[in-house]
Amino acid sequence: MEEKSEWTRISKNLKNIFSERVDFAKRGQFTPYVKEALSKKSFLLEAANAFGTPLYLLDEDKLVERAKLIKEAFMERNPLSHFFYAVKSNDLPRVLHVLQGENFGADVASLFEMELALKLGVDSIIFTSPTKTEEETRLSIENSDRVVFDVDNFTDLELADRLASKLKPKVPLRLSLRIRQAENQWAKFGFSLKEMRKAALMVMKNPNLAWAGIHFHTSWNTNPDNYVKNIRQLGEFLQNKFERRELDSIKFIDIGGGFIPGGSGTLFSATRKGSLLRLVADFADDKVCLEKPCGIAGFASQICTAFRKNITGPLKRSSWELWVEPGRFVSSFTTYILLKVHSAGEGFVKVNGGINLVGSASFDYEYFPIVNISNPSTQTQKAIIYGPLCDPDDHWGKRYYGRKCKPGDILAVMHQGAYTYSTAWRWQQPTAAYAALRGKKLALVKRQENFEDRYSGCKF
Ligand SMILES: Cc1ncc(COP(=O)(O)O)c(C=O)c1O
Repeated sequence: MEEKSEWTRISKNLKNIFSERVDFAKRGQFTPYVKEALSKKSFLLEAANAFGTPLYLLDEDKLVERAKLIKEAFMERNPLSHFFYAVKSNDLPRVLHVLQGENFGADVASLFEMELALKLGVDSIIFTSPTKTEEETRLSIENSDRVVFDVDNFTDLELADRLASKLKPKVPLRLSLRIRQAENQWAKFGFSLKEMRKAALMVMKNPNLAWAGIHFHTSWNTNPDNYVKNIRQLGEFLQNKFERRELDSIKFIDIGGGFIPGGSGTLFSATRKGSLLRLVADFADDKVCLEKPCGIAGFASQICTAFRKNITGPLKRSSWELWVEPGRFVSSFTTYILLKVHSAGEGFVKVNGGINLVGSASFDYEYFPIVNISNPSTQTQKAIIYGPLCDPDDHWGKRYYGRKCKPGDILAVMHQGAYTYSTAWRWQQPTAAYAALRGKKLALVKRQENFEDRYSGCKF
């Protein structure tokens, strides 16, 4: 009996999942994106011509627009909100530099990312890696006026405790304690609530350390439920397990990133729906699963209300700040990958850039609009777009907007700003150059990798 009802539940869910697929050839939901690419056609062609292909092209105006969008959504509802760009989503220095101009700090997760943020002069940095090294901890302590050290576990904490006592930072190293998400894949990170009190007491004993905040993070949130649940749980925990004065050093609650940018029609591999369709990628073929995330205002509204109702209100801490660490939301729509058509035949096109540019074989189950900029149209053509790698998975998708490709045409793959350049594979092809477009001005902001870069440090 139980088995039957379980099966009914599963099959109902499956039905819902597949009924949400959209045959994009018949619907116009991607047309606005395609039109946006076409409105920049002359710049895209000029960039491909001036800097060569394959090429990453950053649209700086779009980056600023995305930064403002999330900032305004939160600030309107909670003026004490602060923003830290998750550098791991795209570590091109230019991206962080532009976001500095929007008053973003940096969320860094490794030595190089921290060094980059320090070098660019970012004055508010949060260091959130799950396993800290001695070198990273030292650098955090040496820059304790700019770096907040996010503690993931007792090993991190003992290292910070020992080194801070030895190095005596100019201002006590501010620590935030990360809370573990028990029931999902994010259980790898952070302290359980039970451990948190022990960790907090340990911090309080060392005058070279200051307990400045509490942190949690999950990615791929299509709605605010996870944030609200965490805020509620945290509010109860702080009220029940701490004396009020023990919380006096706290300045912020950091809710992480993880806001899915809505509207791109991407089939996200990390959602249940996405992973299911990934399993049946052949069936999914040129169908696209539409994610319909709550808009950023919806996230901000529920998060800020929960923050007031469960934390700042009952604990009487109106000065506590809300910290937000968006990556994908800010960076994903900002970058085109420009590819040149090498050859075209019946049902296929070969281009001169491969999936090494994005670092995953994700185009089987994720969809991004691809536009033939040289020969545009809002109609689509069906053809597998293969890259140059010696790997059958090296393809960009099964359809493109535009008229039939000929050798030399330029294709623009849209929305390639997040977890692409920063996760790119070092495989066969050089790392492509990155150019940037601001207003009507194009500039090269990173040149293509050359032979010396690739083999630097190798003994010959
Ligand atoms: C601690 C932390 N903050 C922020 C982010 C950014 O997440 P997203 O790009 O989904 O916004 C990540 C990504 O894994 C993360 O681990």
